[in-house]
This record gives sequence, C-alpha cells and structure tokens, in this order.
Amino acid sequence: MARTHPPSLAGALWTILAAVLLVQAKVFHIPAAVHKGASTAEFRSSASGLDGPKVHSINSSAFDWCLHSPLLDRSDSVVVASIMVSFPNGTLWDATSNGNGATVTVDGDSSSGTWHETGFSWIGSPASGYLIKIDAPHVNVKGTITFSPVAPAHYPCGPVAAGQKLEVGPHIGWANAIPDANSAVNLHIDGTNLAFKGSGYHDKNWSDQPFTTHVASWYWGHGRVGPYSIVWFDFLDLKGTEFVSAYASKNDKIVAASCTPRSIKVRPTGPNATYPPVLSSPNPSGYHISLDLGAREGSLEIDVTVLANLVDVNPEYARLLGNMSAELVPPTGRKKYFTGMALFDQFKLTQ
Ligand SMILES: *[C@@H]1O[C@H](CO)[C@@H](O)[C@H](O)[C@H]1NC(C)=O
Ligand SMILES: *[C@@H]1O[C@H](CO)[C@@H](O)[C@H](O)[C@H]1NC(C)=O
Ligand SMILES: *[C@@H]1O[C@H](CO)[C@@H](O)[C@H](O)[C@H]1NC(C)=O
Ligand SMILES: *[C@@H]1O[C@H](CO)[C@@H](O)[C@H](O)[C@H]1NC(C)=O
Ligand SMILES: *[C@@H]1O[C@H](CO)[C@@H](O)[C@H](O)[C@H]1NC(C)=O
Repeated sequence: MARTHPPSLAGALWTILAAVLLVQAKVFHIPAAVHKGASTAEFRSSASGLDGPKVHSINSSAFDWCLHSPLLDRSDSVVVASIMVSFPNGTLWDATSNGNGATVTVDGDSSSGTWHETGFSWIGSPASGYLIKIDAPHVNVKGTITFSPVAPAHYPCGPVAAGQKLEVGPHIGWANAIPDANSAVNLHIDGTNLAFKGSGYHDKNWSDQPFTTHVASWYWGHGRVGPYSIVWFDFLDLKGTEFVSAYASKNDKIVAASCTPRSIKVRPTGPNATYPPVLSSPNPSGYHISLDLGAREGSLEIDVTVLANLVDVNPEYARLLGNMSAELVPPTGRKKYFTGMALFDQFKLTQ
C-alpha cells in the first residue's frame, strides 16, 4: 500500500524545496533605457543559464538579441519584441513593439521572460521545449508558438557543459537552445488565422560591441535532411579570418558539434556566387555545405537551393527558405541520398 508522509512533514518539505528553488532562480529586471557605461558580456558558459541574459546592462554598443538588434531595428528602446511572418501566398508581414522594460527569470537551464507592455512572453527549457505567447492587440497579433525539441542543445564548439567557449566569432556569443523542434504555430494576425506545424528552432546571440565591429559576413542556417538535424555557421571577421560551427544530431543525439576549422564549410553556388560576399554582390541562388560527421558516420555533402525570401534588408541581410539535397558519404560502403528543407540567412556588411 502506498504511504504518504504526514501532511505537516510533506508541507515542510515542500516549503523547503520551494525556498531552495527560489534561491536558485535568478530574476533579471532589464530597463528599457540604454545603459550609459560599460556592458559586461559572458563568453564562457557556466553550469546553468544557457538561455538567460548574457550581456549585463545594455549600452548603445551592445545587443542580446532580441535585446537590441543592430540592423533590423533602429529604435532607442533596448527591450524590443518583433515578429516576422511569411504567409503561404508569399506576403511578408512584420510587427515590432517596444517594451517598458523586461523581466527574465532563469532557473537552471529553464527561463521565462516577459517584455512588459508588448504582450510577448516565453517560458521553457532546452529539454522540455518552449511556449511563446503573444497577446498584442496594439499590433494585431494574438496566439501561441510551441517548440518540442528533437535535437539536443549546444554551444559553438560542443555540447552544453560548464566552461565552454561561447564565441562563434570574435565578440559574438551564441547559444543554441533548440537546434530542431516539432513546432506548432497558432496565430491570429490582422484578421487572418495562420496555423501550421513544422520544424522549429531557437537560439540567441549577443555582444558587448556593435555587430559591424566584428562581422564582415556570415552564413547561418538550420534544417532537417533525412535522419539528421543540422545547424551551420560560417563566419568571416573584418580581417578575413573564417570561423565556423558545425552541428548535426540524429535520433535526438549529437553526432557532430564542433568549431574546429574544417568541421564545416559553407560556400555560395550558382551564377551569382561570390566569395567572400560583399555588399555589391547579389545573393546567390544556393549554397554547398560540407559537414564532417566524424569517423563513424563520414560526411554530408549538401546542396541548398533558395526557394523564397522571408526577410530582405537589402543589401546587408537576407533570410531565406530552401530545399536541401544531401549525399551521405560513409567511411565505407554505399552513399545515401536525402532531401529536406532549411531556413538560413546571410549577412554581408563590407565592400
Ligand atoms: C559598452 O561596453 C563595452 C564593454 O565594456 C565597451 O567596450 C563599449 O565601449 C561600451 N559602449 C559604450 C557606448 O559605452
Ligand atoms: C496574402 O495573404 C494575406 C494574409 O492572408 C492577405 O492579407 C493578402 O491580401 C494576400 N495577398 C494576396 C495578393 O492574395
Ligand atoms: C541571432 O539571434 C536571433 C534571435 O534569436 C535569431 O533570429 C538569429 O537567427 C540569430 N542568428 C544567428 C546567426 O544565430
Ligand atoms: C543574379 O543577380 C542578378 C542581379 O541581381 C539577378 O537579376 C539574377 O536574377 C540573379 N540570378 C540568379 C540565378 O539568382
Ligand atoms: C523542394 O523539395 C520538395 C520536396 O522534396 C519538392 O517537392 C519540390 O519540388 C522542391 N522544389 C524545388 C524548386 O526544387
């Protein structure tokens, strides 16, 4: 027969547990105003807080995306919520709301955040997934987006652990809480219902310096191809030094997570391919990605074909949707072929 503790003992234990949880949870109050003075950015992981604030006090150089996004948003508020939508007929829609400060609570790797007076909030963790709630009548959006993870979180150079390097390139921090997820979107936008299921993703990036101080160009993307969830990052700094981050998982287990120089290579393809990309070069019609999966699995050779433009901040930025076709080249035995879809972006910031 099941036994329970006497109610008073259970109550006391619960109170102690709740007190311990409260002590462990960190609450960050982020003011809307730009901080005048130095910002401190975290570039080494600790044992928890993967998705918590990484820049403490946001000055006018700094960003903790979406706590100030340098190219897409030029408002004076530090606390900005924005949503960009591509409807099935190709119409692009977006809305931005400036918050009256934000509160972020971090407990282990779980986090929740509210951007005050925007109607945007989230709760979740890399292991359990995320829920984004939007109730923003002033910009005509209401609904939810959910993320059920199918791939383990990672940092630029490896799996999640304390003491990991967090820079994907100089002064650019990156933490990828959800490399791939089964997501459901249920939104009501400007009188239209937008509901669909698909592949979801969640990361964050940050710096204590302006974005353009360290980035000349970058290619980033994620997608699902055959049994693999992949994430790519291939980055050039202003001196022309290349930095990369490669990620692949299969059956919810990491196969590759590395920032060593030849772990991945992403290059533009098609008649407009220019490498390195500069402001005056048109965007390419595709990319070729070589992703090292290690001695056991071999490598993936992936061709990405651009199908649609989702965000266009010409000429600096493009966010795109495309098809992937991949060739798995195992160390021994036959090649295998897979197809899939990807979401990716490209920055080019110098001439
Ligand atoms: C913001 O803080 C960083 C790091 O301390 C510093 O390098 C930068 O100059 C500061 N920016 C401003 C505008 O004060
Ligand atoms: C495309 O879809 C959006 C959202 O339903 C709608 O507002 C817009 O009028 C449509 N555009 C065309 C050209 O049908
Ligand atoms: C940077 O973070 C923003 C916000 O999460 C995200 O939209 C964007 O894709 C990220 N970019 C990269 C390359 O990590
Ligand atoms: C190449 O760029 C030119 C100029 O922007 C554009 O007109 C053309 O459609 C592009 N070609 C492809 C294949 O993307
Ligand atoms: C993209 O991939 C889908 C699924 O494999 C396929 O049906 C579609 O024809 C492809 N589109 C293009 C333009 O290649």
